[in-house]
Amino acid sequence: MRVLVTGGAGFIGSHLCERLVREGHDVLCLDNFFTGNKRNILPLLGNPRFELIRHDITEPILLEVDRIYNLACPASPIHYQYNPVKTIKTSVMGTINMLGLAKRVRARILQASTSEVYGDPHVHPQTEEYWGNVNPIGIRSCYDEGKRVAETLMMDYHRQNGVDIRIIRIFNTYGPRMAENDGRVVSNFIVQALRGEDLTVYGEGNQTRSFCYVDDLVEGMIRMMECDGFVGPVNLGNPSETTILEFARTILELTGSKSTIIFKPLPADDPKQRRPDISLAREKLGWSPRVDVTTGLQRSIEYFAEVVGSS
Ligand SMILES: NC(=O)c1ccc[n+]([C@@H]2O[C@H](COP(=O)([O-])OP(=O)(O)OC[C@H]3O[C@@H](n4cnc5c(N)ncnc54)[C@H](O)[C@@H]3O)[C@@H](O)[C@H]2O)c1
Repeated sequence: MRVLVTGGAGFIGSHLCERLVREGHDVLCLDNFFTGNKRNILPLLGNPRFELIRHDITEPILLEVDRIYNLACPASPIHYQYNPVKTIKTSVMGTINMLGLAKRVRARILQASTSEVYGDPHVHPQTEEYWGNVNPIGIRSCYDEGKRVAETLMMDYHRQNGVDIRIIRIFNTYGPRMAENDGRVVSNFIVQALRGEDLTVYGEGNQTRSFCYVDDLVEGMIRMMECDGFVGPVNLGNPSETTILEFARTILELTGSKSTIIFKPLPADDPKQRRPDISLAREKLGWSPRVDVTTGLQRSIEYFAEVVGSS
């Protein structure tokens, strides 16, 4: 098949492109390189099955494809708050453009949505039926509400125009090729440990998080794309929880770092816990994460060691 991956030079997108090329598909990787990086797709550049297109999805484009994975959108607060108007344009106008393309060439389209559509949830763990608790006017709204509108657009193009859609809600994902400067806890801790700097834990560190290794996520994405008769939305994430403090200690142990853990006051809106309910993914896709946190972290540490070593 000819598969378009928007945001294909980003963290998750580059792993998806790699996997699709390995499976024998012709992959068109489209990216505006806002947070994406050519280094992420370097191993694919000489491959005849791989093509790179520098393009911004807020502008229309016509391509002959069978599948569209719509991942283009900055994902970490530092990046999506850099230009909030552009962020929401990417989710709204970008998704309209990709849905228009899907409609025209009769491609199946999968939208990468997020656990952030649940906002500051009143329901734990979050199931797909929960409608969320999102602030429409806050500094995170450009991302959260943008993704909610993207889901609405997907459903409306599906109901009104019969476009073949899939929606996944991705929870925290980590692995090699995460941007080292994106301010997220996994990359922060690993980079701090490798540089011998203090690891910053907010509060007492007993807040929990659940992290999914990128290979597991990619498997879930492909299963959802190729699943017949189920459009979603479906949660994809790892339901096993770790406290932040435990997580920091594991990273110190795996890196062999002499860094110490320091504590800073908890930010006002820091969620106590976030954990996906993945019953629907298990039932419909036969999917659940396989990579344990130690293995996933070891692979990530190897990657960051190279990045930190060369910077
Ligand atoms: N990483 C996570 O934990 C996570 C969690 C939930 C949802 N997601 C979603 O998954 C997708 C990929 O996230 P990621 O972590 O790989 O982030 P990323 O920032 O590494 O990747 C996003 C890619 O999209 C590109 N992009 C941004 N705006 C664009 C535009 N207007 N036109 C074309 N390309 C554009 C960027 O250059 C980048 O390559 C995003 O849609 C994100 O919202 C990720």
